[in-house]
Amino acid sequence: MCGIVGYIGGDQAAPILLEGLEKLEYRGYDSAGVAVYDQGRVQIAKAKGRLQVLKEMIHGGDDIRGTLGIGHTRWATHGEPSDVNAHPQASVSGKFAVVHNGIIENYLSLKEYLMRKGVAFLSETDTEVVAQLLEYYYHGDILDAVVKVLSKVEGSYGLGIICEDDPDTLYAVRKDSPLVVGLGEGENFIASDVPAILKRTREICRLRDNEIAVIRRCGVTVYNTEKEVIPKTPEHISWDISAAEKGGYEHFMAKEIMEQPKAVRDTISPRIRGGRVVLDQITLTPEQIRAFQRIFIVACGSAYHVGVVAKYILEDLTRVPVEVDVASEFRYRRPIIDEKVLVLVISQSGETADTLAALREAKRCGARVLSIVNVVGSSIANESDDVLYTWAGPEIAVATTKAYSTQLAVVYLLAIYLADALGRLTPEQYADYLRELEALPEKIEKILENKKDIQYYASQNFNAKDIFFIGRNLDYAMSMEGSLKLKEISYIHSDAYAAGELKHGTISLVENGTLVVALATQDRLFDKMMSNVKEVKARGAQVLGVAVEDNRKIEGQVDFVFYIPRACDIMLPSLAVIPLQLFAYYVASMKGCDIDKPRNLAKSVTVE
Ligand code: M6R
Repeated sequence: MCGIVGYIGGDQAAPILLEGLEKLEYRGYDSAGVAVYDQGRVQIAKAKGRLQVLKEMIHGGDDIRGTLGIGHTRWATHGEPSDVNAHPQASVSGKFAVVHNGIIENYLSLKEYLMRKGVAFLSETDTEVVAQLLEYYYHGDILDAVVKVLSKVEGSYGLGIICEDDPDTLYAVRKDSPLVVGLGEGENFIASDVPAILKRTREICRLRDNEIAVIRRCGVTVYNTEKEVIPKTPEHISWDISAAEKGGYEHFMAKEIMEQPKAVRDTISPRIRGGRVVLDQITLTPEQIRAFQRIFIVACGSAYHVGVVAKYILEDLTRVPVEVDVASEFRYRRPIIDEKVLVLVISQSGETADTLAALREAKRCGARVLSIVNVVGSSIANESDDVLYTWAGPEIAVATTKAYSTQLAVVYLLAIYLADALGRLTPEQYADYLRELEALPEKIEKILENKKDIQYYASQNFNAKDIFFIGRNLDYAMSMEGSLKLKEISYIHSDAYAAGELKHGTISLVENGTLVVALATQDRLFDKMMSNVKEVKARGAQVLGVAVEDNRKIEGQVDFVFYIPRACDIMLPSLAVIPLQLFAYYVASMKGCDIDKPRNLAKSVTVE
């Protein structure tokens, strides 16, 4: 996730910007830059890599003199990590400099429009479009230009803007991406996260969507897009810096769980345009798609669990046979693959050693590789034939949550895209799936609003010795993820079983008080699941059920139910996973575990 900081005051801006960016490093980034108004010109310095590279380049800020500036740490989404793609991005004459968090969804059409008007672009970023549009629509009044640009861009944005025609003003705008204005004495700030400015001020104003802050040394005025003044009430920040880094949450995992509605929305919405799934990034033709006889999915850990869900969904929608394998097994089992096979590789980090080796093995055998990756420019992304990025932003907690959810979101997009190319969907089905997909972020939000119920249940059960997760089909795939999440952060022994398999051995482990989490979201398998619930209850199990809110038949059959909103069957995993993540989190928290860095685990497993 990118970071923004901006300064206007009486001190030198560059060192303050660098110091603010340092406080945002924990969020993850791949390049950094600053722009400072320096004697009539906007000077930009930016570099790929660590902030230290930029610092050395401008000698801690001494090389760029000026008291107005903006800075940025970039996490690549559009265009690989590079000096050119780093922010700030400038307009063609260098008059405007812009830093941006978020995604401009319609940047391609805007870019084409400007190019037809003769505007030359330097970078691959969506952000450059904003800088170029500002100059294009600027006729002497910067606020007018900002308002005009906002009427053209679609997507999410936190923007910091400076212009060489106005050395006394910093502009800031937001929509669906956080941005605060920091209030000082004779100086003011902007920041995407409070830690960036906490050393200099504890008084802030939070911008709301479509608000434009016009920030001068002596004061701040906030306007709406009609240029009407919006009164703002300052807020005093009393948190310490480490709580502030986590946005006020106790752990990054909690923060990342709560970020899921946004992460899923960011991943889905830019790819649904005019009622169609648009996967600009992939080059597969309909003929190539029709030629695939099988799909293989390879991944590790939670990404593998996404693969297990994907198998059910892809087979259901495309009717193409799908095999799913953990990468460490796949790479050594001489898989039978050739050019008629599409290999789907899933990885948050894009650097997992086993997954990368599996990818290379697949390519060696002639298969076409499509990867779903979170880290832009990572090894897996670079070596794949096609990449679909999950726009989850950096994930810091070892236990994946938002990356998992966005991988699943991409699987839905891909399944619809492939099924359509294969002629497997009627227009009505296609439209229904898109409607369901677009509704997911709001439904996830609704589940998160009820997190206290899961917290309560966790408080009653955090001392459990063994916890079993059971489900059928998609619910079995979810059981696997629920169980992994719990064991990796709480150190409680846990396993996932296909509910129908219990009686073939596992049920002998169930005794008085054993905790069983029963996923029963799939209508057509509900009665079968309830039979399995009866089996474990008859042996003394305590059962937590997860069911869909309009199916109350589960009541009385389990000891506690957590309801999720209704969605079409194939999309229920996106909802069912949320209570499982919350349960793992609260159990681990009540046990006092090191949630963000569980013992023996690393975020990215780059060794075999
Ligand atoms: O970076 P990757 O997605 O390739 O990582 C794969 C697994 O190591 C990862 O999902 C792991 O299982 C998580 N810690 C689970 O929360």
